[in-house]
Amino acid sequence: MALWGGRFSTQADKELSEFSESISFDKRLYKYDIMGSKAHSTMLAEQGIIPQKTADAIGIELDKIEKAIDEGDFTFCAELEDIHMHIESALIEKLGDEGARVHSARSRNDQVALDIRLYLRDIVAEIAEMIRDFQRALVEQADSNGDAILPGFTHLQHAQPVLFGHHLLAYVEMFDRDIERLNDCAKRINVMPLGSGALAGSTLKINRETVCKSLNFSRVTRNSMDAVADRDFAIELISDLAIFAMHVSRLSEDIILWCSQEFNFIELDDAFCTGSSLMPQKKNPDIAELSRGKTARVYGALTTILTLCKGLPLTYNRDMQEDKEPLFDAIDTVKKILRLYPSMVATMNIKRDNMLNAASDPALMATDLAEKLVEMDMPFRTAHHRVGSFVKWCKDNNKALNATTLKEMQETIPEATAEFLELFSPESSVAKREITGATGPKEVAKQIAFWKQQLA
Ligand code: ARG
Repeated sequence: MALWGGRFSTQADKELSEFSESISFDKRLYKYDIMGSKAHSTMLAEQGIIPQKTADAIGIELDKIEKAIDEGDFTFCAELEDIHMHIESALIEKLGDEGARVHSARSRNDQVALDIRLYLRDIVAEIAEMIRDFQRALVEQADSNGDAILPGFTHLQHAQPVLFGHHLLAYVEMFDRDIERLNDCAKRINVMPLGSGALAGSTLKINRETVCKSLNFSRVTRNSMDAVADRDFAIELISDLAIFAMHVSRLSEDIILWCSQEFNFIELDDAFCTGSSLMPQKKNPDIAELSRGKTARVYGALTTILTLCKGLPLTYNRDMQEDKEPLFDAIDTVKKILRLYPSMVATMNIKRDNMLNAASDPALMATDLAEKLVEMDMPFRTAHHRVGSFVKWCKDNNKALNATTLKEMQETIPEATAEFLELFSPESSVAKREITGATGPKEVAKQIAFWKQQLA
């Protein structure tokens, strides 16, 4: 008989049990459920609501239950619905009436809110640390190969030469904001809901502050209805994960392009690629592709939980049980990506010559010509126009930009001097960009040093 069976005359149907169970996925919360029950029963004894010896017995029994679950020595069944009822029933089975006291002044509604918050607090710290490792892999790669020059793109068209290190550090910056977002979300997760009861608190004289303190929360929730109804902290976490996954997906797209025969800028270590069952020559960047693909799952989780909550009247509704699968799936997906990706980045082989070759198209230095004219006091728009005409002249005359004589250049850029003919090297193009945040080698070295220190 279910723990709520008192007002029911028949047992729950098997189909119903299977429809309404959450134990198949919420069992992962068991440690947090036990942690919460221990803090709760200790407080109940301190407040004289249950005898101290009952709280002691409950504590000992909860430890045994935890150990049994750890060791796979605990039976789960759909009839007991969820992790909260499983643990409470096991207590009652062992301690009889003593165990039946643990749920005083508590509902599964505040209990589940507590469990998720405790769980997410750990998860956020764990994922933030994993993203740090990802940053370390990128910085390490930037440190060894950061001076390679490749074309930077806008609109996926060759734009201007950049250092490979500069490109990689762009992702280090993005991941840093992802970590900041997670840490910020942690503040809103770290609030203690227990004592909110089903929705209205309790008539029993509990002490929420001591529970808050013993579970290391920053404060207690201020409104019991909000505390049991709200899942915005979980939605916020999934949003943060979705943004992180989007960043990984963009890096994946870069890596996939770089591995293609058209780009041929990098080669991934064999350990991170698979072949084709049909085409013997194939070596595919699967981890990057799957990470790009799995980003869709994380977005799916975000859409699911937002949609789940949008129409719910206050306070708790059973619909909310459906919050866990998307939440757990988003977390598991991101953790899977994070377990593999950093090593793939750290071990990728850089084809510097191919990168430089692609960056040596003199058209990539057209902006440098225009900026040279600005240095000579020409208004930028005029300079842009002059160089544009020069590019057109070269195209019409079937010449590369660096293959004209000074005289030919002066047909469209009358102000050009011999110096202009020297502006077509990608090395000197990047070397002139030494302002903060730009791709100059000194500036990039400074940024690499900054990150090495940050991540040490
Ligand atoms: N398994 C439930 C959930 O995850 C726990 C709360 C159930 N509360 C209730 N009144 N049925 O949401």
